[in-house]
Parts: sequence; C-alpha cells; structure tokens
Amino acid sequence: MNITMIGTGYVGLVTGTCLAEFGHHVACVDKITEKIERLQKGRVPIYEPGLEALVNKNVAEGRLRFTTSLADSVPEADAVFLAVGTPTSRRGDGYADLTYIFEASREIARHLSGYTVIIDKSTVPVGTAAQVERIVRQENPEADFDVASNPEFLREGAAINDFMRPDRVVIGVKTERAADVLHEIYKPLYLLDTPIVRTTIETAELIKYAANAFLAVKISFINEIANVCEAVGADISALARAIGMDGRIGGKFLHPGPGYGGSCFPKDTLALMRIVQEYGESLRIVSAAVEVNAAQKARMIKKIRDMLGGSESGKTLAVLGLTFKPETDDMRESPAVTILPALLEKGARIRAHDPKGMEEARNFLPLEVEYATNAYDACENADAVILLTEWNQYRALDLERIGSLLRKRIFIDLRNVYEPEKLRSLGFQYTGVGRK
Ligand code: UDX
Repeated sequence: MNITMIGTGYVGLVTGTCLAEFGHHVACVDKITEKIERLQKGRVPIYEPGLEALVNKNVAEGRLRFTTSLADSVPEADAVFLAVGTPTSRRGDGYADLTYIFEASREIARHLSGYTVIIDKSTVPVGTAAQVERIVRQENPEADFDVASNPEFLREGAAINDFMRPDRVVIGVKTERAADVLHEIYKPLYLLDTPIVRTTIETAELIKYAANAFLAVKISFINEIANVCEAVGADISALARAIGMDGRIGGKFLHPGPGYGGSCFPKDTLALMRIVQEYGESLRIVSAAVEVNAAQKARMIKKIRDMLGGSESGKTLAVLGLTFKPETDDMRESPAVTILPALLEKGARIRAHDPKGMEEARNFLPLEVEYATNAYDACENADAVILLTEWNQYRALDLERIGSLLRKRIFIDLRNVYEPEKLRSLGFQYTGVGRK
C-alpha cells in the first residue's frame, strides 16, 4: 500500500516507520523543512529506542521517505494518516486544539486522487472525523474518500514494540471499503492474532480517551493509597503486588510515584472532561484523578523539604532523572517541571543528571539548574539525592560511593527503586513513596 503520514512528531514518525517495516511504501510529510532535512540525513529528532535504526533501514530499503510536499505523495496514496499535534488549546479551557488537524485536512483535500482513506491517528474529540469529512468534501466535492479513526496506544520508550505487538488495534469506520483498506494496512498483525476491534468512528475516538483516563485514574488511585500507607505505616509495594494479583485489577500501572506526566495523560484527561461537559455529563472520577495528580507533585515537594529538616534553603540537591519517564527525552508535564522550580524558589541549589533528557530539560527548567555529567558527579557535596525518574542506570548505583560523595546521607527515592532496609543499613536516611 502507498501511505502518506502527515506529521513527523512522535506518533507520526513511529507509525510511519513501523508501517514501512510492515512492507508498505510510506511518505512522511511535515511542514518544518529543517526537520525533514534532518530526517533525510537519517537523524531522528527524538530519542526513542530503536527508532533511528528502523528509520534508516526502511529508507535504505526504499520503503520510507521524508518530504515537505503533499503534492508529491498524497495523489498516489491509498491511505493518508493524520498524525499532527492536538495540544491543549491556548485558551486554557482544556479543549484539544484542532487547528493543525483542520489545516491538514484542507491541504490534503485538493491533492486527493482515486479512492483514499483519511485516517485520524491523532487523539481528537468525538466528532472530529465528521468535521474532517465535511472540510474535505467542501474543499474537493469530487474527491472519492472515507474518513476513519485509528487511535494510537504507543508508550514512549516502548513505542516500536507497542506498535509491532499491540494488545489490540482499534478501527473506527463507516464503510466496508474503508475497513478493507485498514485491514490491509494491519495485515502483518493478523499473523500474531492481534485483536482488531472494529467500531463506529465515534466509539473509536472515545476509546482512546477512555483508555488513557482509566490509566490516569489507576495511577492516581495507587498514589493516594500510597499516601494512606505512609499514614498508617503500611507498605505500598506489597499492597500493590497483592491487589494486582487479582485478575480484575491487574498489576500494571500500580506503581506509586511523583505523579504522571507526559504528552498524553495530562492533556487527554483535561480534554475528555471538557468534551463530556459539553454533553451535560460529568466524569468525577477523572476530575479527581487530575486533582490527585497535582496534589501528588506538591506532596513530593513537602516530602523533600521534610527530609531536609524543614527547609531546602541553602541546600544542594542531586537530582537523578528529569524526563517524565525513562527511555525518552520528553520533558512534557514531567514532575521535574513542577518540583524543581519550587525547590529553587525556596533557595535550593540543584545539580541534575538525566541520561537522555538534559538538552530538552534546558527548555523546561529554570536557568539556575546545573547539569552533571553522571549520577556521581551530581552527588558530589550534595545535601541529599532525589531519584526522580527510574532510568535503568540509576537502579544499580554504587551506594557506598554515593554515600561518600554526599555531604549528608539522605536518599529521597520518589520511584521506590531501592530497598529502604538496604539504604538504612548503609547509614542513609531514606524515604520512598508509600512505605516507611
Ligand atoms: C501513555 C499511554 O500508556 C499510551 O497508551 C498512550 O497512547 C500515550 O500515553 P506514555 O505517556 O508514553 O503513554 O507513558 P506511560 O508509560 O503510560 O506513563 C505515563 C506516566 O505515568 C509517566 O509519567 C509514568 O511515570 C507514570 N506512571 C505510569 C506511574 O506513575 N505509575 C505507573 O504505574 C505507570
């Protein structure tokens, strides 16, 4: 199949590359010339494990290319994916900003030739596909096309595997013809017996929001229970393991921490609440999850302050991990973006390290943050160490060495990576989340 992917952000790039790996011919289009030029040179602008190698392989094998020209790829395309950004609107009302979706729809309309399926990959409010259809019809009344919704469920850091071995593929379609094209696109997954859920377009649009909202609720739930554990002296790790063994609950997404971040959960929960409000309904559980998440970040600031004896003023803090999760350089909505400025404001000095996110972090964090070359360098003469993102390379630190570098042996483990007993036996004052 010939496929055009509009948007070379995270989702577009991963999806386009993986579809090329499936054997399709994919043209990835973006308006940003520099980005396309970089990609043409084989340089991928984001850090995602395995992506750059897969891009280069598929380019070399002639199935993947990058262009700024729609005219150059849309006419021959059997399917055009919309994978442009849908950020939270600047109006601050939680709505998803659909400007890029509508702009792209208008632009592709005039280049359509032959039957084409326009597939929405971006996370968009219910009813967006219908609007896209109207726009394309208006711009090009002669066009032979269908619109479909095919939401993505890719986790950053594991996106290629998530694409190649998904739990399910959701296809929202109105016609058999469109369904056939989508089935053809995902044919390689049939060999793996991947469930393909075929629904209406509206249902597909809502599935994405409902899935992300549920996961956000799950994280906020475990974070609140972790706080209860702290109050009553219980242990969240054992608790989460035990409740997760119940098949109805499931063990995943029950890790307490400093609150969820990233490009999806914070944005999608707000957008969903906004959509629901418009229909006169409410989603109190999601709204509570959002509040709990904000409170969790604030609670981490207090936890750090308490460990420093009530004030961070004049203290040097070694911070390990800045990105919202490991294996990505993404800083969007990372807890670090809330927690670190608050500590600086109260007079702390911060020396941070992150394996992949330091360049990006400079765009998100105050200038006063200092960056270390490795975890040990960050700890030199610091008053405490804060483990903020659970990168693998922080999981087996030489704790004796860390202890001897620190001015005071204080370990604040916001991801529960280390065993409290072990740390205490080495003379550290230790705190995690939800355990003594
Ligand atoms: C998420 C969804 O998982 C994915 O399906 C969707 O399409 C996009 O959004 P992503 O944002 O890449 O993916 O990361 P994810 O692994 O889901 O983690 C999101 C946040 O939740 C991170 O900040 C992570 O640290 C946090 N988290 C996750 C927890 O605090 N506890 C957990 O148990 C799981």
